[in-house]
Amino acid sequence: MFRTATSVTRGVVAVVKGSSRAIHTTLLRMAPVQVGDTLPSVDLFEDSPANKVNIAELVSGKKVVLFAVPGAFTPGCSKTHLPGYVQNADKMKADGVGEVVCVSVNDPYVMAAWGAQHNTKGKVRMLADPNGNFIKALDLGTNLPPLGGFRSKRFSMVINDGKVQELNVEPDGTGLSCSLADKIKYKN
Ligand code: BEZ
Repeated sequence: MFRTATSVTRGVVAVVKGSSRAIHTTLLRMAPVQVGDTLPSVDLFEDSPANKVNIAELVSGKKVVLFAVPGAFTPGCSKTHLPGYVQNADKMKADGVGEVVCVSVNDPYVMAAWGAQHNTKGKVRMLADPNGNFIKALDLGTNLPPLGGFRSKRFSMVINDGKVQELNVEPDGTGLSCSLADKIKYKN
């Protein structure tokens, strides 16, 4: 195991029985992101695959409230999680938050359609993480077979000039409690 500024990784070695061959698999982050960590530099997508938004660039030099959901258009995310942030976005911005960002492991067209349904324009940036690269880099993913497999746990985060200042991960991965808009402490 070895630690870098932004990630903790391990090499996984599988030894094939009866053989001396060892198979080295891809290095994986093995510890979830923590308060004080720097966000990784990963490209997300807004509206279309042609429109990259690098998350490290987006969070540089400002305070950002970011929340992640298991899936666009799912009941809990549509009825509770996203609407709470849409309702509170103007107040958060008046209080000094530069951007409010929603991330999901979905494609950018789905995120754009979901945002249009909830009037997020000018309030919440709807950023797609289609291959889960950002969520994997944070080690905040979960396997949700009913939604097709790898998705994000539900969480909220305050990022101050690139560093995680507050982190609220739902204890069961998908519940609607500590990560809701009315719980996030972004004023510190
Ligand atoms: C939801 O309604 O938010 C939800 C549905 C299925 C899996 C995870 C979340």
